[in-house]
Amino acid sequence: MEEPDTQRAQDLLAYIDASPSPWHAVANAAAQLEGRGYRRLAEDEPWQLEPGGAYYVVRDDSSLIAFRIGKGALTRGGFRIVGAHTDSPGFRVKPNAAHAKGPLTALGVEIYGGPILASFADRDLTLAGRVMVRDDSAPGGLGSRLVHFDRPLVRLPNLAIHMNREVNKEGLKFDYQDQLPLFLAALSEELPPEERFRGLLAEQAGVAADDLRSWGLAVADTQPGAFWGPEGEFIADSQLDNLASCHAALAALPDEGPEAGVAVAALFDHEEVGSESYKGASGNFLESVLARIGSGLGLDGDQYRSVLASSWLVSADMAHAYHPSWPRHHDDQHQVEVNQGPVIKVNAAQRYASDELGQAYFARLCEQAGVPHQSYIHRNDLPCGSTIGPMMAARLGLRTVDVGNPMWAMHSVRESAGAEDQGALIEVLKGFYAEAVIGS
Ligand code: CO
Repeated sequence: MEEPDTQRAQDLLAYIDASPSPWHAVANAAAQLEGRGYRRLAEDEPWQLEPGGAYYVVRDDSSLIAFRIGKGALTRGGFRIVGAHTDSPGFRVKPNAAHAKGPLTALGVEIYGGPILASFADRDLTLAGRVMVRDDSAPGGLGSRLVHFDRPLVRLPNLAIHMNREVNKEGLKFDYQDQLPLFLAALSEELPPEERFRGLLAEQAGVAADDLRSWGLAVADTQPGAFWGPEGEFIADSQLDNLASCHAALAALPDEGPEAGVAVAALFDHEEVGSESYKGASGNFLESVLARIGSGLGLDGDQYRSVLASSWLVSADMAHAYHPSWPRHHDDQHQVEVNQGPVIKVNAAQRYASDELGQAYFARLCEQAGVPHQSYIHRNDLPCGSTIGPMMAARLGLRTVDVGNPMWAMHSVRESAGAEDQGALIEVLKGFYAEAVIGS
């Protein structure tokens, strides 16, 4: 394996391990962008944009849009946008989470998106996310703190096979309401469950328990990412879907201003639950940022529309690699393989946005980058998943192609993929952003 490919995969695993929740994924992206000279803009303040400038905007701590403006006129090149999502399926801790369950203190959780529930059993889980706290120095008296218990804290133990003899034939099933509460601690007589949990959270957040107001907490794995295989040719980690695409978009963003056009990386929360939210891809976040870039650079309405019409969106989300132990779950002619390059996702019903123009465009980008590419079609007899591409294409009137790197076990708490594909995708996306330079 070539050195740069390993390094890209290593960087990805480090990013994921530092980002146990979408809030952390955005905080780490923001820190990286700051280090690269991108300046933060606030949505509730006026913007002063300059040609050649690089900026980023965060909405509600878990969606982020970064952009670098070309030195020349925006009418040439248009927007070159990579879209991805910061969230992953799993669990979210309920508001009144802590309760007595037999001899234990348990935490009630909601199911977030479509996780493979059984993959969370018997793992060394923890909690990470954002808590809202009383903060008299902050607007409205409310501040937010990131929290991450950097050690195993909660657990979803299996039932012994002696009491669940059919588990290997029937699969591991949980009752969504009664069997998902996570074990936290033994029940204590002195400290009621809710008080115990709030105390833990407040301590982690560095505030008094009385100042803790509310929380958005994801259940996260504590096992670091790993290379596996004799040559380390594969990787495993949580949240590859879709922090791998977020990482690729950020890594590909240019560090120098293009001649023309605007390079944009748009990372959204809430894709796994449908994107219909304040900060989701179906909301107005990207639309608002693009319009403000347009007006900030002095475009009138007609010019702005023409720039949008010359723009492209590459919607990057992971793809299903061929699983040779389940050959009948794949279309025979569209078996995509890990370490064989990015995948162009096609669906006639527009669950993926790639039309023939998008397919040809992305294939050309791959060829220019010297990277192989593959095409994916979901079987006709299985319902196809979707992603942010179609809704963003529709909402913004953007030419769009849906792509992503191949992976196994999508929505498991421990997903796996090829170590070489991350570097390949980054090279292709760099070429995509460079298209704004030549104003194709
Ligand atoms: Co995804």
